[in-house]
Amino acid sequence: MEPDQMKKMAAEAAMAYVENGMIVGVGTGSTANHFIDLLAGVRSRIDGAVASSEASAQRLRDHGIAVLDLNAVGTLPLYVDGADEANPYRQLIKGGGGALTREKIAAAASEKFICIADESKLVDVLGRFPLPVEVIPMARGLVARELVKLGGQPILRQGFTTDNGHIILDVHNLEILEPITLETQLNQIPGVVTVGLFAQRPADVLLLGSGTGVKRVPM
Ligand code: A5P
Repeated sequence: MEPDQMKKMAAEAAMAYVENGMIVGVGTGSTANHFIDLLAGVRSRIDGAVASSEASAQRLRDHGIAVLDLNAVGTLPLYVDGADEANPYRQLIKGGGGALTREKIAAAASEKFICIADESKLVDVLGRFPLPVEVIPMARGLVARELVKLGGQPILRQGFTTDNGHIILDVHNLEILEPITLETQLNQIPGVVTVGLFAQRPADVLLLGSGTGVKRVPM
């Protein structure tokens, strides 16, 4: 089965968490896009959505779904998003699409965070996927040197600016054995806006599309 079909299966499974009258937090990326397209089918029974990127906001609007400001909404009952890697503890690497900051805000503001992905994203140890770190441009060199001290190899994402006007360093060669500790350490480097490690606030549920159906973690 093609990975995209497995992503779609995971998005379909996430629809079971959408309740009438909800304002739904929506992530970014190809898997989240499947979820947005499915939300269009129930738009009359939800009260709108909060988007984690300009791209997702546009896709929601194109489907006629109201896009709301998180500040006006407060706590999100549900946030659904993809991931670049997930471990069995539901800790994630995110930010391959560059939307990590707003994704982390939405995840933190949510009562329930459902992560949807194809099963290839499940790993024992996070870090094979380069860890995205959003950085204030002035601090690029400083942050890169600190990342090297921690054993990583930061590479500037070329020609990319985030929705917030910042750059991204993709950090290669990390074997993330203690995700919560590393997230805390990286958050303390001046100039770091957001680390694409979602360990302090992991997903509550992983829905992984596979050739044999959707696997749920925890079962
Ligand atoms: C966006 O910044 C990312 O966090 C995405 O959630 C992640 O890259 C997953 O993308 P796909 O759903 O396209 O695999």
